[in-house]
Amino acid sequence: MEEYRHFLKEVLIDEDTLQKRIKELGVQISSDYKDCDDLLLVCILRGAFIFLSDLSRALSVPHSMDFMAISSYGSGNRSSSGVVRINMDLTTNISGKNVLIVEDIIDSGNTLSYVLDLLETRHPKSLSVCTLLDKYERREVNVPIRYTGFKIPDKFVFGYGLDLDEIYRNLPFIGVVDLEKYEG
Ligand code: IMP
Ligand code: MG
Repeated sequence: MEEYRHFLKEVLIDEDTLQKRIKELGVQISSDYKDCDDLLLVCILRGAFIFLSDLSRALSVPHSMDFMAISSYGSGNRSSSGVVRINMDLTTNISGKNVLIVEDIIDSGNTLSYVLDLLETRHPKSLSVCTLLDKYERREVNVPIRYTGFKIPDKFVFGYGLDLDEIYRNLPFIGVVDLEKYEG
């Protein structure tokens, strides 16, 4: 396995900047949901698990959490398509609950669009989205995003939950891959 420094082009968002922004999101979400006693965070696995754990600890309102594993397949392994599969569904009944989906990154929007349509059929009281990263230039499907950590340019990123061929999710920052140097 390659040492990440060999193919790290740049640190796009460093650890302090990430943590500071997540605390701000926590304050905003806590204020918006202060009168709700049934907030449920839905973490989209695997990429969002680190963001969920920091965001959850930045919230001052009581909430529960559940997890859903999704994969989406594209023509290459650096892009996704409309073909989305649920590998693990929620165990919570979301009917009548205030649901906040927690995502790592929105790229084409295909994955989130599928998840939103699916969860709507289960009649939550409200359904909103919080994404750490928004690669807005790549959007193919319009998806409503209520909370965004950072808007980022069209570059393949890794770290802080996001993987490069399933590795490097543990890095505490968001880095840009130099695909010419990455051997995989
Ligand atoms: P979408 O369906 O195109 O919006 O793709 C969203 C999913 O693609 C994310 O949840 C990630 O798993 C993955 N993804 C998109 N861009 C990146 C990236 O730059 N690095 C790592 N994963 C990414
Ligand atoms: Mg993801």
